[in-house]
Formats: sequence, C-alpha cells, structure tokens
Amino acid sequence: MDVAKDAPHGAADRAKFREMKEGTAQDWAIIGGEYMAFAKGLPDRVLDHLRLLDGDFGGFPVDRLEHSLQTATRAHRDGRDEQYVVMALLHDIGDTLGSYNHPEVAASIIKPFVSEEVHWICQNHGHFQGYYYFHFLGMDQNARDQFRDHPYFGACAEFCEKYDQAAFDPDYQSEPLEFFEPMVRRIMTRPLNSLYAKAAEAV
Ligand SMILES: [Fe+2]
Ligand SMILES: [Fe+2]
Repeated sequence: MDVAKDAPHGAADRAKFREMKEGTAQDWAIIGGEYMAFAKGLPDRVLDHLRLLDGDFGGFPVDRLEHSLQTATRAHRDGRDEQYVVMALLHDIGDTLGSYNHPEVAASIIKPFVSEEVHWICQNHGHFQGYYYFHFLGMDQNARDQFRDHPYFGACAEFCEKYDQAAFDPDYQSEPLEFFEPMVRRIMTRPLNSLYAKAAEAV
C-alpha cells in the first residue's frame, strides 16, 4: 500500500501535532514555509477587501471606494510619499468589519509597513475628521482636542483638512485602483515593524 498516495490530499505537508506543545522543528519548517507564501498574498487580500467599498454610498455623495481613491489621489498629487499615499488609500478599509472603530482596523493593517507618524494619523483620523461633522450629530466637534499636545496632532489635522474631508467630490478625476496597486504591493512586501519580521527576513 502506498501510504503517501493514499493519504488525504496535502497531509504530508502538514504539521503532525494535535496540541502545539507537541510541535517539532519539522512541523514548524512546514508551517513557516506556508506562512510566507500566505503573507505574500496580503496585498491581494487587502485590495480585494478594499473593492468591497465599491458601490457603498452610505448617503455620501461618492461611494466609499471613490472616497478612498480620491483621498489617495489628492495625497499623491500633493507630493506625499508612498507610505502616506497607501495609508490614504486604505484609511477607511475598516468600514466593513469595524463599523464602530474603522480607523483602528485600517491602522492595524498598515502598522507593520509604515512609520509611527503615518500609523498614528490613520489610527486617529476619526476624531480629527469629526471636526467637520460631529456637531451635526450632537457630538463634540472638538473631540480631536484631546490630542492637542500630541506631536502628530498637526499631521493628522492636515491629513483630514487637505485629503480626507476634501474627498467627496463626484466630479474629481481620481486615479483608478490599478494606479495604486503597485504602491500597495511595494509597501506591503516587507514588514518594518512586526513580531514576525525576523522570521520573514529568514525566508
Ligand atoms: Fe474614516
Ligand atoms: Fe475618509
């Protein structure tokens, strides 16, 4: 009997442990190889998820994908670097799964690949964007003031003023998603800051 042939598809390429504490170096060599292949697909998964915002208007003048493209296009045309432009593109990607905390979802996705400042802008843009509409919803327009003494206060206020709050114009000629795809792939190739960065370098 040919055991390998009769084994379930792919079983030879799987770790043998039933509890992680039984794991061996061989198990982790298998998992490590799979992990890197999976991690390389991250840009595709992120871009696929961003496309979920297509046609999602939520009452706004443009849908959430166009808002994302327009925010990124405005940042790019204003001379921002790739990290910043990718953050601008993805800043609202959390709208689908993080309906009550969308800035944190986007910030977590980009965190391994961007500077502390760019991450901070993404993570906190909700409070700063609120300056333009919270008062219409019975909320505190100046909610951002809790960060007034933070070194990145000005940078986040600038992101919202120049790009985010400005990106609802149905007549603006935004670049298509394809324009930004190479940037997303370049930025997400290697993590700068991650618990797993050392393992990624080794492969
Ligand atoms: Fe947002
Ligand atoms: Fe936005």
